[in-house]
Amino acid sequence: MRRLIVAAIAAAGLAGVVAHDSNHVSRRKTLSFGPILPHATYHTEPIQPLSAVNVQNDPLEVAKLFVQDITSGLSPASTFAIRKDSYTDTATGVTHVYVRQYLHGVEVADGDINVNVKDGVVLSYGDSFYRGAELDAFIPAYARGVPDAHAEYCSNLEREMSTRFDQYWDQVEAKRPQGDSDEEALASEVYGILPYLYDWNCEHVETPFAMPENAEFAQAENYNSGDVTRALLQFMIAATPNKDLADDLIANPAKYLQKMSATWEANFADEHATVQVHGAPDTVNPVKGRIAFVQVPHGDTTALELVWKFEVEMQDNWYEAAVSTEMPHRIVSVVDWASDSPMPVVAPVPKQRANGTYNVFAWGINDPSVGKRSIQDENWDHLASPSGWHSLPYENDPASAHIRVKGTKFRNTATTWGNNVFAHENWEGRNNWESNYRPDAGVSMKFDFAYKPKQTDSSADALDEAHKYINASVTQLFYTSNLVHDLYYRYGFTEVAGNFQQYNFGRGGEENDAVIANAQDGSGYNNANFMTPPDGQNGRCRMYLWNTANPYRDGDLEAGIVIHELSHGLSTRLTGGPANSGCLGWGESGGMGEGWGDFLATTIRSNKEYSDYAMGAWAANRPTGIRNYVYSINETTNPSTYKTLDKPGYWGVHAIGEVWAQILWVVEQRLIEKHGFVDDLFPPKPSEDGVVPEGDFYRKAEYTSTGERKPLIPKHGNSLIVQLVLDGMKLQPCRPSFFDARDAIIAADKTLTGGENFCDLWEGFASRGLGPDSKVDGRTPWGGGIRTDDYKLPTVCKKQQVPEKPVPTPGDDDDDEDWSWIYWISAKASSISIKLTGLY
Ligand SMILES: *[C@@H]1O[C@H](CO)[C@@H](O)[C@H](O)[C@H]1NC(C)=O
Ligand SMILES: *[C@@H]1O[C@H](CO)[C@@H](O)[C@H](O)[C@H]1NC(C)=O
Ligand SMILES: *[C@@H]1O[C@H](CO)[C@@H](O)[C@H](O)[C@H]1NC(C)=O
Repeated sequence: MRRLIVAAIAAAGLAGVVAHDSNHVSRRKTLSFGPILPHATYHTEPIQPLSAVNVQNDPLEVAKLFVQDITSGLSPASTFAIRKDSYTDTATGVTHVYVRQYLHGVEVADGDINVNVKDGVVLSYGDSFYRGAELDAFIPAYARGVPDAHAEYCSNLEREMSTRFDQYWDQVEAKRPQGDSDEEALASEVYGILPYLYDWNCEHVETPFAMPENAEFAQAENYNSGDVTRALLQFMIAATPNKDLADDLIANPAKYLQKMSATWEANFADEHATVQVHGAPDTVNPVKGRIAFVQVPHGDTTALELVWKFEVEMQDNWYEAAVSTEMPHRIVSVVDWASDSPMPVVAPVPKQRANGTYNVFAWGINDPSVGKRSIQDENWDHLASPSGWHSLPYENDPASAHIRVKGTKFRNTATTWGNNVFAHENWEGRNNWESNYRPDAGVSMKFDFAYKPKQTDSSADALDEAHKYINASVTQLFYTSNLVHDLYYRYGFTEVAGNFQQYNFGRGGEENDAVIANAQDGSGYNNANFMTPPDGQNGRCRMYLWNTANPYRDGDLEAGIVIHELSHGLSTRLTGGPANSGCLGWGESGGMGEGWGDFLATTIRSNKEYSDYAMGAWAANRPTGIRNYVYSINETTNPSTYKTLDKPGYWGVHAIGEVWAQILWVVEQRLIEKHGFVDDLFPPKPSEDGVVPEGDFYRKAEYTSTGERKPLIPKHGNSLIVQLVLDGMKLQPCRPSFFDARDAIIAADKTLTGGENFCDLWEGFASRGLGPDSKVDGRTPWGGGIRTDDYKLPTVCKKQQVPEKPVPTPGDDDDDEDWSWIYWISAKASSISIKLTGLY
């Protein structure tokens, strides 16, 4: 009986959810999946490479010699290159070196080594280089009988789904009164939960298999199995949210192939040619492609697949996909991007304009339920925003392309258009943005606009009512986004680390990538999302209205949502290097991409007086917010531990992220207990010469023997954890697990403070099951696996040993669960599936 139900649900797809959906969810189709590489490792024991003793002053050389050491056993066909987005973080003195593997000159797109070097020592490194045997005679993975990656995911998924279905069935049954044997009622209750578990990626990625069977496709003129257009068309069938189009692509592929054309680009400085495919259905820009290898799990190691690596920009997605070059073109992986002490300050940029002032919910006021609006100033921080928020060089200004100005001449704007952020209305919900409406404050630069929404009788009127305060919404979005830029900058999200700016003031990194921020985006309701392409391409943030109340609520006014979204840009650019946007795509990595946003948003709003916090409570008009639990140190209020990830309902990245954010929240409170709390998370502003004073924010500066000031250490617990979390992102490998991210934070503390918080950090992590012996067996790309909590501490922390807790069995703490709540979540959250960047 149960099995039958599983099959029925699989066939019904999302139908069950749609029926129960209270039309509160904005659905955006999104695919994110890929292999879990079984051989990938992350080491945090410092190593001084013997081979590098003579080159200690050159971190790149140290890294190069070190990588030579650890890859010396590989075939001569294996080479590597140090990526150009490697950088030295002058705030910590650590050089982050990103190394990519090549086989016979072809890139192994997921063959990554990240080496963190300081003072000639390799502090930590991650390694996912391909180490298989048959380099000299490449046999594609599929030809060697390695299961095709996504078909395998789907069959595993089905298996796991049915296991979890059984678990849920048992739990629901146990709650029923004795003798109640109404199986249909029981089934319908389980249905309510299961759609949340049902990851419809599976349904879609199977579609392409239909294509090779289509004679027209296979026999189309000039058939060549390496043809880039066919591989791309296969991907578009899976990617398009338009079901009719997908059907037509399958039925009439030749019609679409004729409209597609490929242009090869050979780069003078870079031997690896790229191709641009024009005319692919449902894309908004030419698709970039290049040939690469990717790895597919094969027992304890990996096999290789030759793929097209595509960058596909669509209306609501921006995919990085690996599609095998051979027929049938399999989708091996897909990521949706759609989620110092600084160097001496450059001469301050002359600025002949008034400073901006804004009538807004001030920084720290999470949403309209917490406080009133007030007039706030443009945060003039010479370090983070040397030209302020409304000035950028003509050369880097997309609106001034026609104006030729010699040198770096700055243009001042009186609108929400600046070097860090372009904010504007996007009621149409489309892709255009440059000429969208923005409030104009004129020479006064006073962005002071009305916000007085009234109750209305119809949804059309409610929308009009919200549109009336668009000036205030855009102003708020611009203000919050610029402050997030400046805050993260001061903790090390600088130009070289891949931040979002049109102009980089000569401080390195790629330019022309300010955040495009859409207020009241008309493409949906009750959500928000962020797209993060690699450094040098604009990030895009979409904020929606929420029809959860009358009058409607506007996500732009809830700082926690804006911060969550912008933090996707932060974590994606910092993990695995600025030029690699594919490191937080799925499973635990993708989940942490969500969790960091919740954690930072919650930390930014928190006060000296401890309190629990919910995410999105105002916008969603729900006191407990949009996650399963509020963030709390109370184990009854929020019982999440590492093992919670095993539970039904924890496949999606948002549920995984919630557990991660909760663990970090607990860790943070430990540090606050030890180091106290600072009200303002912004470090002191630098003086005109660029020197940052310690103030009451940093500990007293220490100096090296040669008189150089060592990296400043934030004095208080809340500022320290923000620093460690950002430093940890830079240290951790691409596609990190919870363990890797935990170890990276502990390694960051070692670098910054000499490891004085080692046991405090472990106590925090272990109190939620992430102790040194925690483990996972059978991890799956969608977050599955069997996890074991560990509440113990490393032996060196023995003195502070806490009593061992009983290991909860799965579902143990379900007893008081409110099923209707899960039901609600399931209906709402079904939009997410395995998704990188939506709010939920
Ligand atoms: C703008 O603000 C900064 C810092 O608050 C201040 O130094 C500067 O004089 C102000 N500029 C103008 C034109 O008021
Ligand atoms: C928005 O502000 C502009 C000035 O920039 C003003 O002319 C316009 O009337 C305002 N719009 C609304 C809907 O209040
Ligand atoms: C935790 O929360 C529960 C339920 O709200 C409450 O009964 C309990 O007293 C709280 N525990 C602590 C230590 O505050």
